[in-house]
Amino acid sequence: MRPFREVWQSTIFTKWVMAITGLLIVGFLLGHLSGNMLMFLGKEHMNEYGVELRSLLHGAGIWVVRLGLVVIFVLHILSALKLSGRIRKARPQRYAKVTPQESTLAGRTMLLSGLLLLFYLLYHLAHFTWGIVHTDFYAHNVGYEYTLANGHVVPDVYKMVVNSFQQPLISVLYLLAMVFTGMHMNHAIGSALQTLGLTNHRLVPVLRKAGVGLSIIIAAGFSAVPISILIGIVK
Ligand code: HEM
Repeated sequence: MRPFREVWQSTIFTKWVMAITGLLIVGFLLGHLSGNMLMFLGKEHMNEYGVELRSLLHGAGIWVVRLGLVVIFVLHILSALKLSGRIRKARPQRYAKVTPQESTLAGRTMLLSGLLLLFYLLYHLAHFTWGIVHTDFYAHNVGYEYTLANGHVVPDVYKMVVNSFQQPLISVLYLLAMVFTGMHMNHAIGSALQTLGLTNHRLVPVLRKAGVGLSIIIAAGFSAVPISILIGIVK
C-alpha cells in the first residue's frame, strides 16, 4: 500500500478533493437557492425559514453547517492553488502564443473566476451575515423586526434583502458575481464528474449538458431575487 504522505501529495488525490468539495458546494448552492426562492412567497415564509435555520438542533445545527462549509471551501481553494502551481511548474516557459482550441473561456479562467468568487463570498458574508458592509440595511443593526404568525418577534431578513437590492449598485455587484458563478460552475461540473471516473463516451456529453443546465439554473435562480426587487415585483 502507498504511504499516506505519497497519496496526500499526489495530483490525482488533489483532483479528487477538488471535485468532491466542488460538488458539495453545488449541493449547498442548490439548498441556499431553494431557501432564497421563499422571497417570492413573502415575508412570513422567508423570515420563518431564517429562524428555523438558526434554531436547528437547538442552535448547534447552523454552527455544524458553518464549520462544514469552512472546511469544504478551504479544501477546495487549497487544492485549486496546489494544482495550478503544479501546472505552472510543469510549464516553466510561457507559450509564445496561446491558441485555444478545445478549451472554453470558462475553462481557461477557472482560477481567476474562482478568486473573484472568493472575494464575492467574503463581501456577501460581510453584507448579510456579519453586517459590516451596507450597515444601514443590516437587520440587527437597524432593528428590522417582524412578528411571525405564531407571535415570535424575529429579525426581518426579508426587509434586509429587499432594502439592500433596491440599491442598484448592490444588485449589479451580486448579478456580476452570478455571471462568474455560472461560468465557473459550467466548466467545473463536467470536469469534476470526469475526475471521479465518469468517462463513458455516451455518458460524458449527457453529464456535460446536465452541468451546463445546472449552472444556468443556479446563476439565473440567484439572479432572479435582485432583478425582481430592482424592477419592483418583490417589495
Ligand atoms: C442573489 C444571490 C444571493 C442572495 C440573495 C443570498 C442571500 C443570503 C442571505 C439573506 C443570507 C443570510 C441568511 C440569514 O442570516 O438569515 C445568506 C447567507 C449566506 N450565503 Fe447567500 N445569497 C446569495 C448568493 C450566495 C452564493 C452564490 C453563495 C456561495 C458562494 C452564498 C453563500 C452564503 C453563505 C456561506 C451564507 C452564510 C450562511 C450562514 O452561515 O449563516 N450566497 N445569503
